[in-house]
Formats: sequence, C-alpha cells, structure tokens
Amino acid sequence: MIKNKKILIVGAGGFIGGHLVKRLLDDGNYIVATDIKPREYWFQEFEKAENHFSMDMKDIGNCRKVAKNIDYVFNMACNMGGMGFIENNKAECMQSVLINTNLLISCKETSVERYFFSSSACAYNKTKQQNVFIEGLRETDAYPADPEDGYGWEKLFSERMCRHFMEDYGLQVRVARYHNIYGPFGTYDGGREKAPAALCRKIIKAKKNNKNEIEVWGDGMQTRTFLYVDDCIEGTLRLFESDYSEPVNIGSDEQVSINQMIEIIEGISGVKKLNRIYQLDKPKGVRGRSSNNDLVKKILNWSYKIKLREGLKKTYNWISSEINNQGSNLSRFTKS
Ligand code: GDD
Repeated sequence: MIKNKKILIVGAGGFIGGHLVKRLLDDGNYIVATDIKPREYWFQEFEKAENHFSMDMKDIGNCRKVAKNIDYVFNMACNMGGMGFIENNKAECMQSVLINTNLLISCKETSVERYFFSSSACAYNKTKQQNVFIEGLRETDAYPADPEDGYGWEKLFSERMCRHFMEDYGLQVRVARYHNIYGPFGTYDGGREKAPAALCRKIIKAKKNNKNEIEVWGDGMQTRTFLYVDDCIEGTLRLFESDYSEPVNIGSDEQVSINQMIEIIEGISGVKKLNRIYQLDKPKGVRGRSSNNDLVKKILNWSYKIKLREGLKKTYNWISSEINNQGSNLSRFTKS
C-alpha cells in the first residue's frame, strides 16, 4: 500500500483521476490534485487534497510549479471521451501529448521517483480488431503501429516517450492500457460519454418517459470488455508498485456485445425489452476489442473482481440518482 507519500495527480477532476485521489487520500497520502477544468466541473472534489482548479498542464510552467518536492506522479489527464468525442476531435486529442511531455520533463528536473501514464486500448493496431469476436488483445498487439486515429496515436507516442525517459534519464515509469473503464462519477451525457453510461442513461430516460425504444449506435454487434472503476484503481496501484515498466492491459475478460450489455441494463432497470433503433451512421470505433489479461495476472497475480452486471448496477443507480437530482447538480461533488 502506498502511504505517507506526496503524490501529484494530474487530471484529478476527471473520472478515474477523482477515484484515484479518494483512494490515495484514504490510504494516508498527501495529494496535490490538478485539472484544467474549473472547480464547478470537477467530477469529485476532496477538501483534504491540495486542489488546483483551472490549471492547464500543457503549460510547462504549471508542471514545474506542482512537480516540486513530489514523490510520485500519476498522469490521468487527457482530452478524451467515448467514440462520439474521439472520432470527431482528433486534433484536440493529440494535443494531450503536451501534458505528458511537459510532465516528464518536469519530473526529470526534480526528485520525482516514479511516474504513471494512463494509456488506452485505443493504442492497439486497428487491423487486429476488425471482427466481432476476437481473441483478447495482448500487449504485443500494439505493433506494428496502426492505432486509433488521433487519440490512439497520442497514447502510443506518449507510451514511448515514457519508455525513453526511463532508458535515457532513469525515471521509473509505469504504463497501463485501460479497457473502457466505467462507473459512478463518469460522464453520462453531453457527448463525451462512453457506451455503458450512455446506454444506462438512455434506458433510464426511456423508463421515465414511458418510451418503448432506444437509439443504439451501430448494429449492436460490436464487442468490448468493460472494467469497473474500483478494479481499475486497484490494478493501477498494484502496477505502480510493481517493478514492471512496459505497458500492461488493465481490463476485464467478460467480452460482451453492445446488444448483450443493453439486455443486462434492461434487466437491472426492470423495463420490458425496448425496441432498438440502430443508427448505423453514428461513431462505431473498432468492431471488436477485448483485453487479454495473461500478463497482468502473471506479473501482479491480480485479476478484476467486479462482474459487469454488478458494476452496471452501481453505475445505473448513480446515473439514475443524478438524473433525478437534475437542477441541484450537487450529487456530482463529494467533499470529504
Ligand atoms: N458512446 C456511445 N454511446 N457508444 C455507443 C452508443 C451510445 O449511445 N450506442 C452504441 N455504442 C457503441 C459505439 O458505437 C461503439 O461501437 C461501442 O458502443 C463502444 O463505444 P464507446 O464506449 O464510446 O467507445 P470504445 O469502446 O470504442 O472506446 C472507448 O474506450 C477506449 C478504451 O477501451 C473510448 O472511451 C476510448 O477513448 C478509450 O480509449
């Protein structure tokens, strides 16, 4: 367990970053939390952390300011979202390269002991994801390089930048490739939401408005593995403390189609089967993507615990309470 450390978490106002702040505070660390988002847009805020709102880490001056006297750095920051966002904002996504680059330079200049980079399954070669049911992607499947355009290229490039900072300057780096992380305090509307939250929202709204149909992007046969955020945090921290410095998948092995996930969410909500309106012109991403977890099991002796149904139930309940509280908008912000 990481304890009594001074830790910089960049992207602390975002979804995974917020959960990480909570866990590392609970474990007894001093947290410096930064995010480009203004205070009112942070997904979670913790009073015990040293919070820096509206701080753009693409600016190296900001990186240098907060990296001083820090033991560990977690870079959880990037301009991202589900397929609806990353397919239409490639230039925005690629600019996150500045965050990672400037942070690495600042860490090299100070006494930072260890650096974490949150990479993504979007770094994998697209040609290996063209079928609905595929073998889980192994870490070696990122090469030869042909990642998701924009967002995936930035992740793959930044992974390599981390590796070279370790080789050339001796900075200890750890890199996770996340496979579609979902859970409470994630985006569920507005255009950046990923499929689990989007489909929960659509089913909650259909139920609320007595509608018997939902819109689904694509034909619903696309497959993915989704990982609940608590498992993501646990895997991340274990990887961080390990001595493995190459990229590692952090994902589940419950491969489902989007149609299967909709059935699970319908079961949670108790609605009758809704008519699916398949929108074939919407962003679809790769046809099939799932995580092979042999490496993470081998090096960390760890596997995810929360099954998809259980995680979706927690997510559904949180989104449902958010939607019911709309207007007050307070339940997004936990202060502790
Ligand atoms: N977002 C969304 N909203 N997706 C939908 C919807 C909907 O209402 N209906 C169906 N889908 C389908 C998409 O068309 C896609 O085929 C699949 O659900 C998964 O979509 P996302 O969850 O948006 O993205 P992804 O799995 O392709 O990629 C996400 O995860 C990667 C890591 O595994 C993105 O968030 C990437 O940024 C991330 O790197």
